[in-house]
Amino acid sequence: MAADILEVTITSIGAQGDGIASHDGVPVFVPFAMPGDVARVIVKDKRRNGIYSELLEIVSESESRRAPVCAYFGACGGCQLQYMDAKTYSGWVKNRAVLALKQHGFDDVPVLDPVITPPASRRRVALKALKVAAGVVLGFNERQSHQIVDVTACPVTREELTALFEPLRRVLDAVFEAKMAATVHMTLTASGVDMMIDAPMALGLAARERLVEFAHSQDVASLHWRDQGFLDPVAIRREPVMDFAGVKVPLPPAAFIQATDEGEAALVKAVVDGCRGFGRVADLFSGIGTFTLPLAREHQVMAAEGARDALDALKAGVLVAPDLKQVITRHRDLFRQPISATELEKVDAVVFDPPRAGAAAQVAEVAKSDVKRVVAVSCNPNTFSRDARTLADSGYVLEGVLPVDQFLWSSHLELVGTFTRL
Ligand SMILES: C[S@@+](CC[C@H](N)C(=O)[O-])C[C@H]1O[C@@H](n2cnc3c(N)ncnc32)[C@H](O)[C@@H]1O
Repeated sequence: MAADILEVTITSIGAQGDGIASHDGVPVFVPFAMPGDVARVIVKDKRRNGIYSELLEIVSESESRRAPVCAYFGACGGCQLQYMDAKTYSGWVKNRAVLALKQHGFDDVPVLDPVITPPASRRRVALKALKVAAGVVLGFNERQSHQIVDVTACPVTREELTALFEPLRRVLDAVFEAKMAATVHMTLTASGVDMMIDAPMALGLAARERLVEFAHSQDVASLHWRDQGFLDPVAIRREPVMDFAGVKVPLPPAAFIQATDEGEAALVKAVVDGCRGFGRVADLFSGIGTFTLPLAREHQVMAAEGARDALDALKAGVLVAPDLKQVITRHRDLFRQPISATELEKVDAVVFDPPRAGAAAQVAEVAKSDVKRVVAVSCNPNTFSRDARTLADSGYVLEGVLPVDQFLWSSHLELVGTFTRL
């Protein structure tokens, strides 16, 4: 056997989803492998934390292996964990939360069984598009590459979006100049598909007419072209809206929403249940009101958010929902100017849901406050655990954590944690 080819037995799965084996006591990371597999691999890189390899062949399969459902499995960079059966996958998702918490000293926090969203549930996607000699390539990036895998189907995405892939490819072929690259953001809203094409040039008249025709023929609710940040509303046939607890909120172009209906429902339930019985709530990093509006059925809410268009959308929703409790808004950069411990004297519970970087500055203020209940939502188990440590060191008890997996078969994971100040 050549020196850089190894045969290894996988014993665990790492945070990025690679199988992990041991060779002479050194961890070996093997993509597309799982516990119980015996794999033949070629060594690609030797780093301080272990050996990085590429899978040559599975010599003997784990009993928990199953056939991937996607035709693009292996080439496409998304959904790399489809070869695990549901039980193994769910166990891995839960363990990711457990391990991230342990790294910050939470050894015995109860971690609930994860909520795992079903296939065909993703309601927002960003597709890469590139005009080549043969036409437009439209799809997702290959694994660890900027090459695009041309796809006609995607088993994790809502059918209302995948049905547009083919007509979209055709219209982009007519609209794009040679070698043009763009990103197409598609979101399924309560009023239909909202689409934004991020492109490097302004739209000409003939191309605009093609896109308007496409929007009409495919019943696309709204279509924007964005050239270097400048938004061009090409076809606004219906205003894209989201529905949060019966409140209709206009969706600003490409604004953040949770990735699936099911994931949103699980997160909202955890947040609303966590705040029940507490008086006023501060919803920090509120976005367009995913949590604010359901909370406002029971509580007065202060919503704070850095994106002005998101906050304006939230306010527009509040205006047409007279049966809500009072919602006040704060337009704030919560990294530079967090809601202070003094401002938090007015509330009884805090919800925060920051971007991946976490909420270090904001959490430092919560830690100084007397707020009795905190519900933390996060799309990054590592920054979640770091911020949870700050809260725990200031006297909060982390009662439990719910993992919510909205990015099926990938290593992305959301966590919700509920804290009480004793
Ligand atoms: C993960 S999203 C959550 C939004 C909302 N809670 C939801 O579930 O739809 C994070 C939000 O934080 C906002 N954000 C990012 N950086 C921020 C900052 N420095 N200050 C305030 N808000 C920020 C984003 O605009 C986005 O709305």
